[in-house]
Amino acid sequence: MADTDTGPQTDTITFPQDRTCPYHPPTGYRPPHGAAQRPLSPATLYDGRVVWLVTGHAEARALLSDQRLSADRQNPAFPMATARVAKLATRRIELLGVDDPEHHAQRRMLVPSFTLKRTETLRPQIQETVDRLLDRMIEQGPPVDLVNAFALPVPSMVICALLGVPYSDHDFFESRTRTLLRGPVVTDVQAARDELDEYFRTLIDHKRTVRGEGLLDELIAERLDTGAVSRDELVRLAQILLVAGHETTANMISLGTFTLLQHPDQLARLRSEKELMPSAVEELLRFLSIADTVSRVATEDIEMGGVTIRAGEGVVLSTSTVNRDAAAYPAPDELDLGRRSRHHVAFGFGIHQCLGQNLARAEIEIALRSLFARLPGLRLAAPADEIPFKPGDTIQGMLELPVAW
Ligand code: HEM
Repeated sequence: MADTDTGPQTDTITFPQDRTCPYHPPTGYRPPHGAAQRPLSPATLYDGRVVWLVTGHAEARALLSDQRLSADRQNPAFPMATARVAKLATRRIELLGVDDPEHHAQRRMLVPSFTLKRTETLRPQIQETVDRLLDRMIEQGPPVDLVNAFALPVPSMVICALLGVPYSDHDFFESRTRTLLRGPVVTDVQAARDELDEYFRTLIDHKRTVRGEGLLDELIAERLDTGAVSRDELVRLAQILLVAGHETTANMISLGTFTLLQHPDQLARLRSEKELMPSAVEELLRFLSIADTVSRVATEDIEMGGVTIRAGEGVVLSTSTVNRDAAAYPAPDELDLGRRSRHHVAFGFGIHQCLGQNLARAEIEIALRSLFARLPGLRLAAPADEIPFKPGDTIQGMLELPVAW
């Protein structure tokens, strides 16, 4: 690993690390003299391998749009953040783990269903889902676990309707997704992934005879039946869309609620300045950076931030630390809902930038606005420091969120 003019090497940083507060980046990722001085640092993975940890904002965006970095998990040099992720890498990951030009072909097939215009047409349906869940919660009465009663079902119902997956199967796919993303036992993780594969094989075969409504039905008619994609490829794409489509947004809703309750001044501001909502969502995305790890492998030497990333070296980005770079955001550790927090990397950047970002923004905005409007007295039903949150090697968020009103 080459390090040209950044001065003597400090000890490497262990990666990944757990957050000590659910909405702040792990303190151990911070470069000793700030990201401006050291935007890339050596970090050690679970298997002892040393990779580059990127914490500088400008460098992160430059690297994520650099085609000399590959997202192919099947490249033996790809940096695996944990043993669990490494075991799963034996199977091809569509879209997220594919480089251009193949990636471009897959993405082009899906983009029309996730444009801003298309997402805007889903708002009434999202609002209806949110209202129905809040009605049920209010009828049930406090205390409730907001994760199970609201934060998880909102995106889960929305992505099911979009894809044409029956929501009645949600217990099955939500539990398998949990295992896939956080299961401690590797064989369980592989089993969960195989069960999800089998589920989609059966669903797709069924849909080929009994057509329904949804993106999967469209892809079957337009791509599978025409031979443009194989059944296996469609199964793997469907799995990515379902998993990415519910776990991520659910965590933004639960952690977003927790964070606003912990910042009553900002919440009061949001209540009194209704037009603040879109910028508030953007700032929460920046501040929380729930998809904290984005990984790549260099296929050629790259000069960046005063160091040389050699071909074959791993690059890991901590989106939360990148989004707290003081060179990009003044007072980065402050939640400021009026901040213009554009250009954050909470959705990644470059060719793999989140396909579902318009949908996620609409869901978070409608969910948070309706939640705080319908329940003006919303509060935590347990001491904040006793509420469990997720470990650092997965999508960040609350494991549960007991609330009352
Ligand atoms: C707040 C919620 C969300 C966050 C924070 C988030 C975050 C991200 C990030 C950081 C990436 C880039 C990963 C990389 O470059 O390696 C990504 C990619 C992706 N996301 Fe999201 N995501 C969210 C919601 C969604 C939703 C609702 C969907 C719906 C299907 C979705 C589908 C995808 C897909 C398919 C990709 C891969 C895109 C590609 O490789 O071209 N995400 N997401």
